[in-house]
Amino acid sequence: MVNIAVMGYGTVGSGVVEVINTNGARINQRIGDELNIKYVLDLREFPGDPIQEKLVHDFDTIVNDPEVKIVVEVMGGIEPAYTFVKRCLQAGKSVATSNKALVAKHGAELLSIARENNINFLFEASVGGGIPIIRPLNSSMTADEIEEITGILNGTTNYMLSKMFYEGADYDEVLKEAQAKGYAERNPEADVEGYDACRKIAILSSLISGQQVDFEDIYTEGITKITKQDMMYAKELGMTIKLLASSKRDGDHLHAIVAPYMLNKDHPLYNVNDVFNAIFVHGNVLGDAMFYGSGAGKLPTASAVVADVVDEAKHLNRNIMTMWKSDKLELQPIADTSK
Ligand code: HSE
Repeated sequence: MVNIAVMGYGTVGSGVVEVINTNGARINQRIGDELNIKYVLDLREFPGDPIQEKLVHDFDTIVNDPEVKIVVEVMGGIEPAYTFVKRCLQAGKSVATSNKALVAKHGAELLSIARENNINFLFEASVGGGIPIIRPLNSSMTADEIEEITGILNGTTNYMLSKMFYEGADYDEVLKEAQAKGYAERNPEADVEGYDACRKIAILSSLISGQQVDFEDIYTEGITKITKQDMMYAKELGMTIKLLASSKRDGDHLHAIVAPYMLNKDHPLYNVNDVFNAIFVHGNVLGDAMFYGSGAGKLPTASAVVADVVDEAKHLNRNIMTMWKSDKLELQPIADTSK
């Protein structure tokens, strides 16, 4: 049995529990062992929720339990997440997090502590919600010099800009809708001022350069000054406005920026709408690649967190590639849709 603990039972934390409950059998097959949520850490009570049985209020219960091998951090914010994650890693427990603020600020240190302790600090969910981007950059694309990453990395603002473009919607009204759908950060300023996208491009820039890129060094402008009229003019010109986060290599230098851009119809990010995120990557030998999908929300983000947990559990069991057995699966004919 692989025991894990989940720290934080908010939107993403409850999503993590839901994903493990929904796909438990398949996940266990992939790991080659049973994944068990032993503890959920939260200060609140959840009467009537089956999670109540696993609920603990004291972090020490988790860090002092040698049976807990992997800890999920989905509390958000810097403290106490930073202290808790650091202590888990020092105690030899791998950590999977969705917390981009934490990764952007302390990623280098936490990765180094993980390395010293022969475990892993994983953060697929910190950028692009459910879209795989961290692992591809860290494995499938490691033969390349990545020369450019440009993405729509914030679901809330993309949702808002899409509604402004297609429905002529009003800024305040669409912000409220995005918040109601659970896309926005606790403080939506982080979304609309571009801070969230800034942390995400800082993480990607650090990954592609192999050096710490401080988010404070990235010029960041959000969408608060974009009006209905701006969008209307862009539309009349056959263009749209998107909040882009971009990191480009120029010789030995890297440039990074977060800002609203006007895009032509033929731009690869023009048609990325609603809460979707997309990340365009250019490698010097690979050429172009695009990653596209659900960039925010409870289950997409939880999917990425649980994927990190599964990956780590597979490593614990030395079962790095997902296995399949030799018994044959008979495929069904594709339904005839011509009738
Ligand atoms: N507030 C973030 C967004 C959540 O809208 O993209 C996912 O990081």
